[in-house]
Order: sequence, then C-alpha cells, then structure tokens
Amino acid sequence: MEYTVKSGSPEKQRIGCVVVAVFAQRVLSAAAKILDKASGNQISNLIRRGELEGDLGGTLLLHNVENTLCDRVLLIGCGKEKEIDTNAFRKINSTMAATLKASGTTEVASFLTEIPIKRKSLTWKIQQSIEAIDETLYTFNQLKSEQKPPRRPLRKFVFSVSGRGQLTEGEEAVRRGMAISTGIKLAKDLANLPGNICTPDYLAIQALTMQKQFPKTRVTVIGEKEIEDMGMGTFMSVSKGSRQDGKLITIEYRGGDKKQQPIVLVGKGVTFDSGGISLKPGAAMDEMKFDMCGAASVMGAVSACAELLLPLNIIGIIPAVENMPDGVASKPGDIVTSLSGQTIEILNTDAEGRLILCDALTYAERFDPEVVIDIATLTGAVIVALGAHPAAVLGNHKPLIHDLLKAGKSSGDRCWELPLWDDYQEQLDSNFADMANIGGKGAGTITAACFLSRFTKKYHWAHLDIAGVAWKGGKEKGATGRPVSLLVHYIFQHLNGKHK
Ligand code: BES
Ligand code: MN
Ligand code: ZN
Repeated sequence: MEYTVKSGSPEKQRIGCVVVAVFAQRVLSAAAKILDKASGNQISNLIRRGELEGDLGGTLLLHNVENTLCDRVLLIGCGKEKEIDTNAFRKINSTMAATLKASGTTEVASFLTEIPIKRKSLTWKIQQSIEAIDETLYTFNQLKSEQKPPRRPLRKFVFSVSGRGQLTEGEEAVRRGMAISTGIKLAKDLANLPGNICTPDYLAIQALTMQKQFPKTRVTVIGEKEIEDMGMGTFMSVSKGSRQDGKLITIEYRGGDKKQQPIVLVGKGVTFDSGGISLKPGAAMDEMKFDMCGAASVMGAVSACAELLLPLNIIGIIPAVENMPDGVASKPGDIVTSLSGQTIEILNTDAEGRLILCDALTYAERFDPEVVIDIATLTGAVIVALGAHPAAVLGNHKPLIHDLLKAGKSSGDRCWELPLWDDYQEQLDSNFADMANIGGKGAGTITAACFLSRFTKKYHWAHLDIAGVAWKGGKEKGATGRPVSLLVHYIFQHLNGKHK
C-alpha cells in the first residue's frame, strides 16, 4: 500500500472515502463536525437516530454526503475520547481497514490522526496506523492453487494532518512506518512457509537476496563442513540429525562509520523442530515450522534498517538448522564441545535452540559488538509464565534491558523482564560435563537464559524469548511478525541517544 501525508479539509478531499472519528455518546470529532456542517447536519441527524453510538469498534459507511467531494464517508466509533489508549488505537485502525476492504474502496483519506492519545506524537500515530492496517490486510495464500486477488484492493492511503507545519514530521513517520511494516511482512512470509520449503538453505538464499536489494549489506553463508571445522560442536550436534545442510548466515549492514561498534542480533532459525530423538508429541507439531521466527524477525529488522539507510552498523547472525531424529542424530546423554570450549551434556535433544544459539553467541564476539540481542522461540515455559502478550526479556546489562522494555512500550510490541539470578544456575549442573542443556523442573525460561548467559560474558547481552508471541495458533494460525517492531524501535532509540 502506498501511504502519503496531506493537509486539507475533509469536505474538499476528492477521493474514494474520507474516514473520520466519532467518540462515545455520539460526540463528533473536529473533522466529523466539518463534514456535518458542510452537509447541513446530515451526519448528526443520522447519529441522533441511533445509527452509530461512537463506541469502540462501531462503524457507519455513508454515501452521497452533501457538499463533499468524496464518494463515501466512513465514521469510526472510537469510545470515550479521553480513554483512547494504544490498544484502542490499534483496534480503531484495524476496524477501519477491515471495513474499507469490504467496501471496495481503493483510495482513502483518513482524519484519525486527530484522535488525541496521551503522550503520543503524530509520528507514533502514523506508524501504529500503518502497522495495524497492513496487519489487517495481510494474507498468505501463495501456496493455494487458486490465486484470487481482491477485486478492488485498497492501494492508496492518505494521512491528513492539521497543517502544512506537520507535513515533514508526517512524511518521515510514513517512511519509517512503511519500512517497519515491510520488515514485519518479510518476517511473516518467511515464518508462514512450511518446513519443506523454508529450509536452512532457503533462509540463506533469502538473506542473499537482501544483499542485492540493499547496497550497504553484505551476506555470508557457511555450510556444515566449515561450521564443523570452526569448532561449532553444539550447532553440529543439532544439525547432523537432519538431511538438510545447516547454515550459519551473517547479514552485515554497515550504515555507520567503520569504527562504530555494531548492534548484533542473533535469531534462532530452527526451520522445523521435531524435538529430535526426544521427539515431541504429535498435537500441533506442525506449528514447529514457526521455530525460525527469531531468524525471521532478525531478517525483517535488518532489512527495515537497511531500507531506511540508518547511520548505524547492524549485524544479523542466523544459525539455521532442522531438528530431526535420525540414525546419526544426537542422543540423550551425548556430550559435545561448544565453540567456546565449554562441554555440554545433552539431556534432551528438544532443548536444541540453546545449542545452536550458544555457538552463534560465541561467534558474535568477533564483531566486537556494542550490544548483542538474541531472539528465539526458546521455551514453552514462557507461554505458561506470560501467555501471548509480552515476550520475556532477560540479560546481563540493566540499561539494555531497560531500553528494550521502553522500546516495547512505545512500539506496542511489548516485553517483560524475568529474573536472571545466579540462584538458578545450579539447575544446569551435570555430573559428566561442564553443564547440562536442560534445567529440570521449574523456571524453564530462566534456566534456558542461564544456559545462554554462560556464552555471553564478553559483551552486553539481552535475550528475548518470543515463543508466546511469534505466532498465533488455532483458527487464526499464522506468524505475527513480532518482535520486528520492538527491535526497530529499539534501534531508533539507540540512534537518538548516542549516535546523533
Ligand atoms: N521450540 C521449542 C519451544 C517451544 C515449545 C515454543 C512450544 C513454542 C511452543 C524448543 O526448542 C523446545 O522444545 N523447548 C523445550 C525445552 C525443554 C526440553 C527443556 C520446551 O519448552 O519444552
Ligand atoms: Mn525443541
Ligand atoms: Zn525449538
């Protein structure tokens, strides 16, 4: 979709549809009042008759509103004006997008930018709108045999701003919002693909196309032979059980100056997690194709930054494997040596994410990072702890965790901290190796992070466990594209802080 910014009065928009807000108890927004006046109270008359209360989620589509230049006017119920929060604003935008889609409108001018939300800027509103609209209109049907493109798709969306003075801010917000949204779409598309198509090799090929698309980006891919020679024994312990060749993918975006230390993002790329010899039960096992959502979010976030030509250095590292049972697969009790030299007793082959991540995290040292953030669908336990709303964040550097919590809040793509206390470390004790790969009963998300913490001592590090947020199951089954928005907002914050 093409988004633009314009200033102008609602009755003068020569366009398919003008969208305006109506608040609870039939209170018209400023733009709705202007249309009402121009039309000789046509809108307030309808509302008085009970056509729309203004409650959150309500809509009323009008045709032939007198003295306007648009084909339709869409009124959107927004609830009490003073109570509109970030969730309500998202709902307002998705209701609008769904209604517009059903109406067959192709071009729209929206005045929902005038909705007041406490402590939120025009930039924020535009970015959130773009994310919510694109989310609502997203479909994944590339693998259905019959391709039915929508009859009259929405293709042009104009954000109306109150004066010319707001155009510059609005345009920059659109630029950033579209880049984030494109990154989210990339993450969703990759994650929604099935495991027989989206293999480690497929992820590598996708990363290589980023190199063609973005000039300041360099991609390197290494395969199992080189990975083994390098000494990545824990990565190999997972990858060797699959006929797919595991890959270590590095995407370097160098938009900053040479000396600037990079932000490194490490994404778990298990393209299918069967559990290995510790085989998972059958129910909903198909959803384990989503076990590469961390990798997908890294690709989405790096491509958004590259698209925006941000003056920063960002490196994405993706260990990509398939976790399968096989004659040569790792067995419970096997002991392997990681790239760091530490030895690991594999007590459960289904705790494979940490095994590929730990080698990737050691590999990250060579980039002399300012910070490292890993993103992984790491534990089912995080769903027990936090459900599907926030990701869990844990790490070894308070300011980094603070920044991620803040980015989560401002993007709406939230995370919540769990304690990474030393008290939990002993759950990883092994009688035979330096550590076990599982922590036994209790606090599974924390013991998984404890495991990773043993490989991240040389830099500032945070871990996002996204197993609860990266995809939805059931009827709405599909990837969410989270936490691309969180990551890109974190990077924006970083830019405004130190490097401006
Ligand atoms: N990819 C899974 C985590 C997962 C499970 C995400 C269910 C979403 C839903 C991960 O590799 C895994 O299997 N973790 C195990 C760890 C356990 C063996 C210590 C888990 O959470 O059960
Ligand atoms: Mn697993
Ligand atoms: Zn997994």
